[in-house]
Amino acid sequence: MSLQPVRGTRDLLDDELQSHQRVIRIAEAIATTYNYRPIETPIFEYTSVFQRTLGETSDVVGKEMYTFSDRGGESITLRPEGTAPVVRAIISEGLTQTLPQKRIYSGPMFRYERPQKGRYRQFYQLGVECIGMASPFYDVECIALADHILKSLGLSDYKLHLNTLGDTESRNKYRQALVAYFSQYQNELSEDSKTRLEQNPLRILDSKNEGDQKICADAPKFGTYLGAEPKAFFDTVLKGLDALKIDYTLDPHLVRGLDYYCHTAFEFKTTTLGAQGAILAGGRYDGLMEQMGGPSVPGIGWAMGIDRIALMLPTKGNKKGLRIAVIPIGEELETEALKLTQNLRQHDFTAELFIAGNLGKRFKQADKTECQIAIIFGSDEFSQNQVKVRSLQMDEGSSNKEATIESSQLFSYLSALSI
Ligand code: HAM
Repeated sequence: MSLQPVRGTRDLLDDELQSHQRVIRIAEAIATTYNYRPIETPIFEYTSVFQRTLGETSDVVGKEMYTFSDRGGESITLRPEGTAPVVRAIISEGLTQTLPQKRIYSGPMFRYERPQKGRYRQFYQLGVECIGMASPFYDVECIALADHILKSLGLSDYKLHLNTLGDTESRNKYRQALVAYFSQYQNELSEDSKTRLEQNPLRILDSKNEGDQKICADAPKFGTYLGAEPKAFFDTVLKGLDALKIDYTLDPHLVRGLDYYCHTAFEFKTTTLGAQGAILAGGRYDGLMEQMGGPSVPGIGWAMGIDRIALMLPTKGNKKGLRIAVIPIGEELETEALKLTQNLRQHDFTAELFIAGNLGKRFKQADKTECQIAIIFGSDEFSQNQVKVRSLQMDEGSSNKEATIESSQLFSYLSALSI
């Protein structure tokens, strides 16, 4: 029996898990002010929910889905993303009668990708979907929400890349132009792009293959084929972003890896995570609900990679997480120490009682559990209503600082240390 987690999965603990929880807490609080409400869909769905919607030729459907037959013979897929399930849920819950539906979700997603830093087979997304709003102002709102959350998490090292995929008519014309162009280079294209040429030539623009990229440099530009209406739509999005002072870079090669997009497509990218630079991505998907068998209702949304964003957050240096060890000297003071520990917790301090073993062993335990402060008292201190407060984690070379504090002053002393 292997005791290792499955390749591409991992146990989340300590700082990393706390960073995940912090991202979710802050994102949910901010999304509430944009009137988003929570939704949670199942972790697996019928395979059909993803197959056509994400695109038969997309990498996700073609190579990355965890699909299996259950014991009843149904084809089931662990969700690789959250948009199709949320749209499915809006239809099956009858919520298309009460639009708009602005929903926020988070949880694990599953893709069979080659694992590396920032790329996992079980990874975590937090996403928002705004369903039922056709105006470009909602594209602006949606992007502004993403930017607001990233900034509130203390991040600044990222850029918003933006493109329009236009309407169906513009895309069809562009597709024809691309087929004509890439057909000249059919023998030089990578194997993947040869397949894309037949099935979805737009995706060649997104190829990571160097040879493909050289050929793409002179490919026709979408702007030439963009109709007046989708152009005006995109211009309104850009004006809105300008008005809110949200910086962006126009990126005509940004085509997204999933098929349901139209009009606005965007990615927030960082250069600090190496190859896995996309930390948040999304766009408009006006045809998705109808394609899934629901009414024709527009939608726009995004999802952030929590794992990637957590890697960018500072982990240390937050004194609010002060951990306190309570160490009584002498058996007769153990009950007093128990009471003090409980009292600290009721005042929102993180406290741990160390009773068993000699003093040296207890200080070691306190250190291992990452307590920064120890409150120590023996019968002398107790009879004088005092305690000793010793800092445990000092810079190398310096000795541990210790102060004697009146018991009545203890909480205000600790609060001052926590700021
Ligand atoms: P996506 O671009 O496939 O879009 O994924 C969104 C984000 O999830 C990526 O930018 C990345 O940060 C993160 N991510 C994707 N795959 C992995 C992985 N294997 N390991 C770690 N992080 C990963 C979607 O999923 C769309 N549903 C977004 C959306 C919502 N569009 C409209 N509404």
